[in-house]
Amino acid sequence: MFSATCVAPVNMALVKYWGKRNEELILPINDSVSMTLDANEMCAKTTITASESFKQNRMWLNGEVVTFEENARLMRCLAGVQRLALANGAHKFSLSWKLHIASYNNFPTAAGLASSAAGYACLVYTLARLYELPLNEELTTVARQGSGSACRSLYGGFVHWRRGSSADGSDSIAVPLAPASHWPNMHMLILVVNDARKKTGSTRGMQLGVSTSSLIQHRAKEVVPRRVKELMAAIESRDFQAFAEITIKESNQLHAICLDTYPPCVYMNDVSHAIVNFVHDYNETVGSLQAAYTFDAGPNACIYVLAENVPRLLAAIQLAFPNDAQQSVEYLMGIPVPPVELKNG
Ligand code: DP6
Repeated sequence: MFSATCVAPVNMALVKYWGKRNEELILPINDSVSMTLDANEMCAKTTITASESFKQNRMWLNGEVVTFEENARLMRCLAGVQRLALANGAHKFSLSWKLHIASYNNFPTAAGLASSAAGYACLVYTLARLYELPLNEELTTVARQGSGSACRSLYGGFVHWRRGSSADGSDSIAVPLAPASHWPNMHMLILVVNDARKKTGSTRGMQLGVSTSSLIQHRAKEVVPRRVKELMAAIESRDFQAFAEITIKESNQLHAICLDTYPPCVYMNDVSHAIVNFVHDYNETVGSLQAAYTFDAGPNACIYVLAENVPRLLAAIQLAFPNDAQQSVEYLMGIPVPPVELKNG
């Protein structure tokens, strides 16, 4: 019997992935850039055991049984890692041994907090450890086929998922841009507005967007390539002003595309919009961009802020959003680190 346990963190997109050109291989219509968070704060933890005596593959997510063999994305990830293991030849046991997979998320599933990114990254990374495979570009193409954004959670710090142009997706890979240590005072605050499951999941939302939004192709072809370049330069020079402006505009454009989708996908709620207004007012009051919001496919806000500005921002948030029933927000702090293997499970 062989076993591996790993944790993989959530990543939050700065330049958003929204729209696929190939549904099965999960090939995006545009590049994206993200920051991976502290694995201890918001992460998936997965243990995979392989045994000659197991009769079938089985999986549990947060303690509940998952129909593993019927889940095409899970099966594609397993097949992808096993194909790499076959080519690599380093594994200590037969690839025919069945697996038992137990995975946990320590944050709300499917509430726009990138749970699938951490979950699939963790699954693929743990499989790679089990079969003694290295973390490389090819492995990111496997994680991508679980959930697009998962390929970015295989690395810590700032990560670029290149759209690629090949039909087989071999060049649609995630590459690390800069480790967390490059910008050590970069922090993220998560304001949990609502942890209910979202009405239209990302996969469906972006399908509808690609088929009905007249803005989405303009975004993919004209806007994103420019913003990726600008964001990479801002990260390299640790220019928070440029970083914040691009991040805010990206979030707004994602949600503009969602509203341009027919029928529209509405992910942000009144509290989300109140947070947007709050951040713009706050930045105006302090006289520079000290806080940058971003929203994925859900109402919860992620706020990027430099460590030295956290106390002042937190005080202002607490004043603007006292923890009453209507506008309750919780705070989670993230600092960027990569996935890791836990030696003692
Ligand atoms: C809004 O990676 O969850 O978070 O590839 O269909 O599984 P699938 O979608 P998913 O989409 C994430 C979209 C996003 C933006 C982002 O993370 O870049």
